[in-house]
Amino acid sequence: MKINHLGIATKGIEDALKFWEDALNLENVHTEVVEEQKVRVAMLPIGESRIELLEPTSHDSPISKFLEKRGGGIHHIAVEVEDIEFMLARLKEKGMRLIDETPRLGAEGCLVAFVHPAAANGVLLELVQTAK
Ligand code: CO
Repeated sequence: MKINHLGIATKGIEDALKFWEDALNLENVHTEVVEEQKVRVAMLPIGESRIELLEPTSHDSPISKFLEKRGGGIHHIAVEVEDIEFMLARLKEKGMRLIDETPRLGAEGCLVAFVHPAAANGVLLELVQTAK
């Protein structure tokens, strides 16, 4: 397992890139709208992980709600797993609260599922199985 990415909620990706790309010198290698989650994402590799900048695409996006409450910041940590179905079954069996009981389609054709912050010390955890 490894940290696939850190998800950071922003009001606007272009503005956030002034720090992450222009000042810190990371490179935005991929931008995509993930319709299902009502977000636009930008991926900036850092070591073996990435920074995922998130921007809401509608007022009822989960990121809109997060921005209203907290005004930006770390939104989730994404852990890469080999077999997401297996990990979800394992967490369920251990009585852990899940947001997604079955995987959804994420950015770059990945399968993703969110684990409820109540299960992970207040951290919203995203499980990611990368597209083969
Ligand atoms: Co993510």
